[in-house]
Amino acid sequence: MTIADCRILQLPKISDVRGNLTFIEGGNHIPFDIARVYFLYDIPGGADRGSHAHRKLHQLMISTSGSFDVILDDGMEKKQFHLNRSFQGLYISPMTWRYLDNFSSGAVCTVLASEVYDESDYIRDYNVFLSEVESR
Ligand code: TYD
Repeated sequence: MTIADCRILQLPKISDVRGNLTFIEGGNHIPFDIARVYFLYDIPGGADRGSHAHRKLHQLMISTSGSFDVILDDGMEKKQFHLNRSFQGLYISPMTWRYLDNFSSGAVCTVLASEVYDESDYIRDYNVFLSEVESR
């Protein structure tokens, strides 16, 4: 998989004068079954997150409040995304280095993940990431 697989997916949006509703079904609106959901919130100004890759994990990242930037890197190419819509999700394939910053005040980053938490799936050293990319 490369960075070309990482893309913004448009999620269903039920517009209503009482407020909008978006829903996500594993294996239907996103290309994996959901095993875990987590969120980043109460993020102080100037903070950054991420700076790692996953060997097997598929993820969908959504700004469910506010906005932030995500920089993706497959070892050869980098792409930057600005997430600021609750009906758009950024699909992140395995073996993609990610870095998140520029969080607005009140931003919430909601992440759907294909596996439960497993620290051994993380690559936290960029040079190890590059050597694993090359050996694939
Ligand atoms: P990490 O994934 O490094 O955070 P981020 O990429 O958003 O900066 O996780 C931070 C800490 O939280 C780390 O000690 C692992 C722990 N953690 C869990 O226990 N379960 C989880 O589902 C996640 C995502 C993290």
